Amino acid sequence: MNSRKRVLLGVLGSGRGSNFAAILDSIASGRLSASIPVVISDREDAGILELAREAKIQTAVLRQGRFRTWLEPEIEEELAQCLRRFQVDLVVLAGFLRVLKGPLLAAYPGKILNIHPSLLPAFKGKEAWKQALEAGVTETGCTVHWVEPEVDSGPILGQERVPILPGDTPEILHARIQEAEHRLYPEVIQSVIDRKLWQGIHS
Ligand code: GAR
Repeated sequence: MNSRKRVLLGVLGSGRGSNFAAILDSIASGRLSASIPVVISDREDAGILELAREAKIQTAVLRQGRFRTWLEPEIEEELAQCLRRFQVDLVVLAGFLRVLKGPLLAAYPGKILNIHPSLLPAFKGKEAWKQALEAGVTETGCTVHWVEPEVDSGPILGQERVPILPGDTPEILHARIQEAEHRLYPEVIQSVIDRKLWQGIHS
């Protein structure tokens, strides 16, 4: 049996939590050697919290604050404290739709991962699948990257390409991208763990 301590992932999400579910599946099937002590959301009605409760994982909801797209520094500090309380090693953003400005990045330098639904650096920001459709490109995809202060700009760890097909609607395209996300994210997290990349600031 592997007696090494498992890497503890703190998962943050605002939505239905399908990436979180894929990560949980990978842990359950032994493809990802990690544990998730806590799932945190900025929305108390987020599906990701329901999934976490079903999986008997602790949950926390952030204070609402005054802004919709980012967290006030005090709230971001509370978020960092919550992650520390659960001894989280690596922070996994899985559809967390608030921009992180500072306190969390300072508390977890080089230890925060994000998945974005485009082939970065193309189509940063909101609803990247709609941006790709509107741009008329024939291919998009998803990207896992380190989180840095500039949004959707940190070093890229992995990407999967997804074709855009005639007749695609935003919903159909996003669903196809999400299938790729569910393969890519657990694989990249495992590779970060294998290479111990979360233990020191990456270059
Ligand atoms: C995912 O498609 C993820 O790439 C996207 O939110 C969705 C969350 O889905 N994230 C972003 O757009 C971040 N900029 P989920 O809640 O089903 O995992």
